[in-house]
Amino acid sequence: MTRRSRAAQHPIPPQVRETYGPTDLGSMPLFGGGFINFGHWQGIDLDQPLSEHDRISSQQAMYRRVLGTLAPTAGLRALEVGCGLGAGAAVALEEHGFAHVTGMDIHPQQLERAGQANAGLLALRPERLRFVRGAAEDMPFDDGGFDCLYSVEAAQHFRDLGAFAQQTARVLRPGGRVVVASFFVPGADPAAAGRLAGMLHTFADGLDVAHTVPALVGSLERAGLAHVRADSIGASVWPGWDRWLAGMWEPGTWPRNFLRAFEDGILDYFTVTAQRPEDPVPGIA
Ligand SMILES: C[S@@+](CC[C@H](N)C(=O)[O-])C[C@H]1O[C@@H](n2cnc3c(N)ncnc32)[C@H](O)[C@@H]1O
Repeated sequence: MTRRSRAAQHPIPPQVRETYGPTDLGSMPLFGGGFINFGHWQGIDLDQPLSEHDRISSQQAMYRRVLGTLAPTAGLRALEVGCGLGAGAAVALEEHGFAHVTGMDIHPQQLERAGQANAGLLALRPERLRFVRGAAEDMPFDDGGFDCLYSVEAAQHFRDLGAFAQQTARVLRPGGRVVVASFFVPGADPAAAGRLAGMLHTFADGLDVAHTVPALVGSLERAGLAHVRADSIGASVWPGWDRWLAGMWEPGTWPRNFLRAFEDGILDYFTVTAQRPEDPVPGIA
Protein backbone atom coordinates (compact mmCIF):
# COMPACT_ATOMS: atom_id res chain seq x y z
CA MET A 1 0.00 0.00 0.00
CA THR A 2 1.38 3.46 -0.87
CA ARG A 3 1.84 6.20 1.70
CA ARG A 4 -1.00 8.15 0.10
CA SER A 5 -3.59 5.33 0.17
CA ARG A 6 -2.58 4.33 3.73
CA ALA A 7 -3.00 7.87 4.99
CA ALA A 8 -6.38 8.26 3.28
CA GLN A 9 -7.54 5.24 5.29
CA HIS A 10 -6.34 6.56 8.64
CA PRO A 11 -9.40 6.42 10.93
CA ILE A 12 -11.10 9.71 11.84
CA PRO A 13 -12.05 9.74 15.54
CA PRO A 14 -15.89 9.83 15.75
CA GLN A 15 -15.98 13.15 17.68
CA VAL A 16 -13.73 14.80 15.06
CA ARG A 17 -15.83 13.32 12.24
CA GLU A 18 -19.03 14.79 13.73
CA THR A 19 -17.66 18.19 14.82
CA TYR A 20 -16.04 19.03 11.47
CA GLY A 21 -18.63 17.15 9.39
CA PRO A 22 -22.36 17.56 10.03
CA THR A 23 -21.89 20.02 12.95
CA ASP A 24 -19.54 22.20 10.87
CA LEU A 25 -17.93 23.98 13.82
CA GLY A 26 -16.46 26.64 11.54
CA SER A 27 -19.95 27.89 10.62
CA MET A 28 -20.76 28.82 14.25
CA PRO A 29 -20.68 32.53 15.17
CA LEU A 30 -17.89 31.76 17.67
CA PHE A 31 -15.52 31.68 14.70
CA GLY A 32 -15.83 33.38 11.30
CA GLY A 33 -13.84 34.41 8.27
CA GLY A 34 -13.02 30.78 7.45
CA PHE A 35 -10.87 30.36 10.58
CA ILE A 36 -11.53 28.03 13.52
CA ASN A 37 -9.23 29.15 16.31
CA PHE A 38 -9.53 31.04 19.60
CA GLY A 39 -7.60 34.03 18.28
CA HIS A 40 -4.54 36.06 19.29
CA TRP A 41 -5.92 39.30 20.68
CA GLN A 42 -2.80 41.38 21.30
CA GLY A 43 -3.41 44.93 20.02
CA ILE A 44 -7.21 44.57 19.99
CA ASP A 45 -8.91 46.87 22.53
CA LEU A 46 -10.84 44.53 24.82
CA ASP A 47 -12.49 47.46 26.65
CA GLN A 48 -14.49 48.39 23.53
CA PRO A 49 -17.40 46.36 22.11
CA LEU A 50 -15.87 43.71 19.83
CA SER A 51 -17.01 43.47 16.21
CA GLU A 52 -16.95 40.52 13.82
CA HIS A 53 -14.04 42.29 12.15
CA ASP A 54 -12.10 42.15 15.46
CA ARG A 55 -12.88 38.46 15.77
CA ILE A 56 -11.63 37.63 12.28
CA SER A 57 -8.56 39.83 12.85
CA SER A 58 -7.76 37.88 16.02
CA GLN A 59 -7.73 34.62 14.08
CA GLN A 60 -5.59 36.06 11.28
CA ALA A 61 -3.29 37.39 13.99
CA MET A 62 -2.97 33.87 15.41
CA TYR A 63 -1.59 32.72 12.06
CA ARG A 64 0.71 35.73 11.83
CA ARG A 65 2.03 35.02 15.33
CA VAL A 66 2.61 31.35 14.53
CA LEU A 67 4.12 31.89 11.06
CA GLY A 68 6.32 34.66 12.44
CA THR A 69 8.23 32.02 14.43
CA LEU A 70 9.35 30.47 11.11
CA ALA A 71 10.66 33.70 9.56
CA PRO A 72 12.26 34.16 7.10
CA THR A 73 9.80 32.15 4.99
CA ALA A 74 10.23 33.58 1.47
CA GLY A 75 10.62 30.81 -1.09
CA LEU A 76 9.98 27.92 1.33
CA ARG A 77 7.71 24.88 0.84
CA ALA A 78 5.31 24.61 3.79
CA LEU A 79 2.96 21.95 5.11
CA GLU A 80 0.00 22.94 7.31
CA VAL A 81 -1.34 20.09 9.47
CA GLY A 82 -5.05 20.47 10.31
CA CYS A 83 -5.70 23.26 7.81
CA GLY A 84 -9.49 23.32 8.36
CA LEU A 85 -11.16 25.67 5.87
CA GLY A 86 -7.83 26.83 4.46
CA ALA A 87 -8.03 30.49 5.55
CA GLY A 88 -4.68 30.19 7.32
CA ALA A 89 -3.04 28.56 4.29
CA ALA A 90 -4.19 31.59 2.29
CA VAL A 91 -2.59 33.93 4.87
CA ALA A 92 0.63 31.90 4.65
CA LEU A 93 0.69 32.10 0.88
CA GLU A 94 -0.36 35.71 0.45
CA GLU A 95 1.52 37.36 3.33
CA HIS A 96 4.57 35.21 4.04
CA GLY A 97 6.06 34.61 0.62
CA PHE A 98 6.10 30.81 0.71
CA ALA A 99 6.88 29.23 -2.66
CA HIS A 100 4.27 26.53 -2.00
CA VAL A 101 1.74 25.69 0.71
CA THR A 102 0.13 22.27 1.20
CA GLY A 103 -2.91 22.33 3.48
CA MET A 104 -3.58 18.89 4.94
CA ASP A 105 -6.61 17.84 6.99
CA ILE A 106 -7.98 14.49 8.18
CA HIS A 107 -11.57 15.41 7.36
CA PRO A 108 -12.78 15.16 3.74
CA GLN A 109 -15.64 17.65 4.32
CA GLN A 110 -13.22 20.26 5.64
CA LEU A 111 -11.14 19.80 2.51
CA GLU A 112 -14.20 20.24 0.31
CA ARG A 113 -14.98 23.49 2.15
CA ALA A 114 -11.35 24.60 1.88
CA GLY A 115 -11.44 23.99 -1.86
CA GLN A 116 -14.64 26.00 -2.26
CA ALA A 117 -13.53 28.86 0.01
CA ASN A 118 -10.19 29.18 -1.80
CA ALA A 119 -11.40 28.46 -5.34
CA GLY A 120 -10.20 31.88 -6.56
CA LEU A 121 -6.73 31.50 -5.07
CA LEU A 122 -6.41 27.90 -6.33
CA ALA A 123 -7.34 29.07 -9.84
CA LEU A 124 -4.92 32.01 -9.64
CA ARG A 125 -1.99 30.11 -8.08
CA PRO A 126 -2.48 26.40 -8.92
CA GLU A 127 1.25 25.79 -8.74
CA ARG A 128 1.56 27.27 -5.23
CA LEU A 129 -1.38 25.88 -3.21
CA ARG A 130 -3.02 22.48 -2.76
CA PHE A 131 -5.26 20.76 -0.22
CA VAL A 132 -4.60 17.10 0.60
CA ARG A 133 -6.31 14.58 2.83
CA GLY A 134 -4.07 13.09 5.49
CA ALA A 135 -3.62 12.49 9.20
CA ALA A 136 -1.06 14.11 11.48
CA GLU A 137 -0.09 10.61 12.56
CA ASP A 138 0.35 9.21 9.02
CA MET A 139 1.23 11.90 6.50
CA PRO A 140 0.89 11.01 2.81
CA PHE A 141 4.17 12.62 1.71
CA ASP A 142 7.67 11.52 0.79
CA ASP A 143 10.59 11.99 3.15
CA GLY A 144 12.19 15.44 3.40
CA GLY A 145 9.78 17.23 1.06
CA PHE A 146 9.05 20.32 3.21
CA ASP A 147 11.16 23.19 4.50
CA CYS A 148 8.71 23.83 7.31
CA LEU A 149 5.56 22.50 8.94
CA TYR A 150 3.04 24.45 11.00
CA SER A 151 -0.17 23.53 12.78
CA VAL A 152 -2.73 25.85 14.39
CA GLU A 153 -5.22 24.59 16.97
CA ALA A 154 -5.38 21.03 15.67
CA ALA A 155 -2.94 19.16 17.98
CA GLN A 156 -5.56 18.95 20.76
CA HIS A 157 -7.33 16.46 18.48
CA PHE A 158 -4.31 14.28 17.64
CA ARG A 159 -4.54 10.81 19.17
CA ASP A 160 -0.81 10.04 19.07
CA LEU A 161 1.73 12.83 19.62
CA GLY A 162 4.62 10.36 19.19
CA ALA A 163 3.43 9.37 15.70
CA PHE A 164 2.89 13.05 14.81
CA ALA A 165 6.45 13.91 15.92
CA GLN A 166 7.94 10.98 13.96
CA GLN A 167 6.03 12.00 10.84
CA THR A 168 7.08 15.64 11.27
CA ALA A 169 10.76 14.66 11.51
CA ARG A 170 10.36 12.44 8.44
CA VAL A 171 8.66 14.93 6.08
CA LEU A 172 10.94 17.87 7.01
CA ARG A 173 14.20 18.24 5.14
CA PRO A 174 17.38 18.40 7.25
CA GLY A 175 17.41 21.90 8.78
CA GLY A 176 13.62 22.22 8.34
CA ARG A 177 11.54 23.86 11.08
CA VAL A 178 8.21 23.15 12.79
CA VAL A 179 5.79 25.18 14.91
CA VAL A 180 2.76 23.73 16.67
CA ALA A 181 0.25 26.09 18.29
CA SER A 182 -2.59 24.85 20.46
CA PHE A 183 -3.86 24.41 24.01
CA PHE A 184 -2.09 21.97 26.30
CA VAL A 185 -1.85 21.15 29.99
CA PRO A 186 1.19 23.20 31.07
CA GLY A 187 2.83 20.64 33.39
CA ALA A 188 2.67 16.96 34.18
CA ASP A 189 -0.23 17.34 36.67
CA PRO A 190 -1.99 13.92 36.80
CA ALA A 191 -5.23 15.53 38.04
CA ALA A 192 -5.48 18.03 35.15
CA ALA A 193 -7.21 15.71 32.65
CA GLY A 194 -10.01 14.88 35.09
CA ARG A 195 -10.48 18.52 36.09
CA LEU A 196 -10.63 19.61 32.42
CA ALA A 197 -13.20 16.90 31.68
CA GLY A 198 -15.31 18.28 34.55
CA MET A 199 -15.23 21.83 33.12
CA LEU A 200 -15.15 21.39 29.35
CA HIS A 201 -17.37 18.83 27.66
CA THR A 202 -15.04 18.63 24.65
CA PHE A 203 -12.44 17.00 26.95
CA ALA A 204 -15.10 14.81 28.59
CA ASP A 205 -16.44 13.48 25.27
CA GLY A 206 -12.96 12.96 23.76
CA LEU A 207 -13.00 15.60 21.01
CA ASP A 208 -10.07 17.29 22.78
CA VAL A 209 -7.26 15.31 24.39
CA ALA A 210 -5.55 16.65 27.53
CA HIS A 211 -2.03 16.43 26.10
CA THR A 212 0.65 18.00 28.29
CA VAL A 213 3.21 20.37 26.82
CA PRO A 214 6.07 18.26 28.30
CA ALA A 215 4.63 15.27 26.38
CA LEU A 216 4.76 17.19 23.09
CA VAL A 217 8.27 18.50 23.79
CA GLY A 218 9.45 14.97 24.71
CA SER A 219 7.87 13.46 21.58
CA LEU A 220 9.60 15.98 19.31
CA GLU A 221 12.95 15.38 21.05
CA ARG A 222 12.61 11.59 20.82
CA ALA A 223 11.86 11.96 17.09
CA GLY A 224 15.30 13.57 16.74
CA LEU A 225 14.28 17.22 16.50
CA ALA A 226 16.53 19.85 18.09
CA HIS A 227 16.08 23.27 19.73
CA VAL A 228 12.63 22.24 21.02
CA ARG A 229 11.09 25.18 22.82
CA ALA A 230 7.62 25.86 24.28
CA ASP A 231 6.34 29.42 24.80
CA SER A 232 3.09 30.33 26.52
CA ILE A 233 0.93 32.76 24.55
CA GLY A 234 -2.18 32.22 26.70
CA ALA A 235 -2.26 35.78 28.04
CA SER A 236 -2.88 36.95 24.45
CA VAL A 237 -5.51 34.27 23.78
CA TRP A 238 -7.84 33.50 26.68
CA PRO A 239 -8.95 36.96 27.93
CA GLY A 240 -9.80 38.07 24.38
CA TRP A 241 -11.58 34.80 23.56
CA ASP A 242 -13.66 35.15 26.74
CA ARG A 243 -14.41 38.80 26.07
CA TRP A 244 -15.66 37.85 22.58
CA LEU A 245 -17.92 35.17 24.07
CA ALA A 246 -19.33 37.33 26.83
CA GLY A 247 -22.21 38.65 24.70
CA MET A 248 -23.26 35.16 23.56
CA TRP A 249 -22.53 32.65 26.33
CA GLU A 250 -23.26 32.80 30.07
CA PRO A 251 -20.40 32.42 32.59
CA GLY A 252 -19.98 28.74 33.49
CA THR A 253 -20.98 27.48 30.03
CA TRP A 254 -18.55 25.41 27.92
CA PRO A 255 -16.44 28.00 26.05
CA ARG A 256 -16.33 30.43 29.02
CA ASN A 257 -14.61 27.71 31.06
CA PHE A 258 -11.44 27.89 28.94
CA LEU A 259 -10.49 31.15 30.68
CA ARG A 260 -11.27 29.55 34.05
CA ALA A 261 -9.05 26.56 33.22
CA PHE A 262 -6.24 28.97 32.26
CA GLU A 263 -6.67 30.96 35.48
CA ASP A 264 -6.65 27.69 37.46
CA GLY A 265 -3.31 26.76 35.81
CA ILE A 266 -4.54 23.53 34.20
CA LEU A 267 -4.63 24.71 30.56
CA ASP A 268 -2.62 27.17 28.50
CA TYR A 269 -2.00 28.05 24.87
CA PHE A 270 1.52 27.46 23.51
CA THR A 271 3.66 27.71 20.47
CA VAL A 272 6.12 24.81 20.37
CA THR A 273 8.99 25.18 17.91
CA ALA A 274 11.75 22.77 16.84
CA GLN A 275 14.17 22.07 14.01
CA ARG A 276 15.34 18.95 12.23
CA PRO A 277 19.14 18.86 12.62
CA GLU A 278 21.24 19.18 9.47
CA ASP A 279 23.00 15.94 10.38
CA PRO A 280 21.17 12.84 11.67
CA VAL A 281 21.30 12.27 15.44
CA PRO A 282 23.00 8.87 16.10
CA GLY A 283 20.56 6.23 17.39
CA ILE A 284 17.40 8.22 16.49
CA ALA A 285 15.33 7.20 13.49
C1 LIG B 1 -10.04 23.75 15.31
S1 LIG B 1 -9.82 23.30 13.62
C2 LIG B 1 -8.47 24.41 13.17
C3 LIG B 1 -8.47 24.75 11.70
C4 LIG B 1 -7.41 25.78 11.28
N1 LIG B 1 -6.08 25.36 11.65
C5 LIG B 1 -7.71 27.16 11.83
O1 LIG B 1 -7.04 27.59 12.79
O2 LIG B 1 -8.61 27.82 11.30
C6 LIG B 1 -8.98 21.71 13.72
C7 LIG B 1 -8.80 21.00 12.38
O3 LIG B 1 -7.92 19.88 12.58
C8 LIG B 1 -8.38 18.78 11.81
N2 LIG B 1 -7.84 17.54 12.44
C9 LIG B 1 -8.25 16.93 13.56
N3 LIG B 1 -7.51 15.85 13.82
C10 LIG B 1 -6.58 15.77 12.82
C11 LIG B 1 -5.52 14.87 12.53
N4 LIG B 1 -5.25 13.83 13.32
N5 LIG B 1 -4.78 15.08 11.42
C12 LIG B 1 -5.04 16.14 10.60
N6 LIG B 1 -6.04 17.02 10.83
C13 LIG B 1 -6.79 16.85 11.94
C14 LIG B 1 -9.91 18.89 11.88
O4 LIG B 1 -10.55 18.17 10.87
C15 LIG B 1 -10.09 20.41 11.78
O5 LIG B 1 -10.25 20.82 10.45
